[in-house]
Amino acid sequence: GARFTVALDGPAASGKGTLGRALAQACGFAHLDTGLLYRAVGARAAAGEDPVAAARSLVPEDLSRADLRSAAAGQAASRVAALEEVRAALLAFQRDFARRPGGAVLDGRDIGTVVCPGAEVKLFVTASDAVRSRRRWLELRAHQPDLTQVEVLEDLRARDARDRERAAAPLRPAPDAMLLDTSDLTIEAAIARALSAVEAAR
Ligand code: C5P
Repeated sequence: GARFTVALDGPAASGKGTLGRALAQACGFAHLDTGLLYRAVGARAAAGEDPVAAARSLVPEDLSRADLRSAAAGQAASRVAALEEVRAALLAFQRDFARRPGGAVLDGRDIGTVVCPGAEVKLFVTASDAVRSRRRWLELRAHQPDLTQVEVLEDLRARDARDRERAAAPLRPAPDAMLLDTSDLTIEAAIARALSAVEAAR
């Protein structure tokens, strides 16, 4: 099959995960949520392991741990994600995934800038703080009924600031990325925009 890579980057809760899954399904591509790799390393580091050693020995079972979606896991992820050696240890796996026959969608923070600078399609997905915090709050409240939307917003802002300000692969749009602001779009409309970008490049 043809090799074709879609890079989806953006801040937390911008909609890139939902878009990534939908695009992969519509195009028949494989999908990798690269944030999960950093969450898994963060979880092992929180349990006392050296983060670089954890990144170098990551196994598939690490990615199916139950607690990886929590806000605490997100914060732990963004701390280990600032370490250059952690990022380097995860690079080959992500690049191999991106070039698999049949096409791939990767979502994260540095896919268009560092992991796959040659990706055929690059989208930088954003949404307003109000929209992002509401979306994430709606997702989390089933399991954390006491959580407020303000707490979610503070968590997202802290994580985004750390991701933008770090020296190693900071969060920023690739110069050739298409910006997709999903604040005022339905999920269906956002998927349609992303799909037309893929169709245009195919
Ligand atoms: O996307 P998600 O919110 O699951 O990512 C968790 C954290 O992992 C991010 O806040 C970021 O610090 C880190 N990350 C990264 N590079 C990626 C994907 C995630 O630094 N490609």
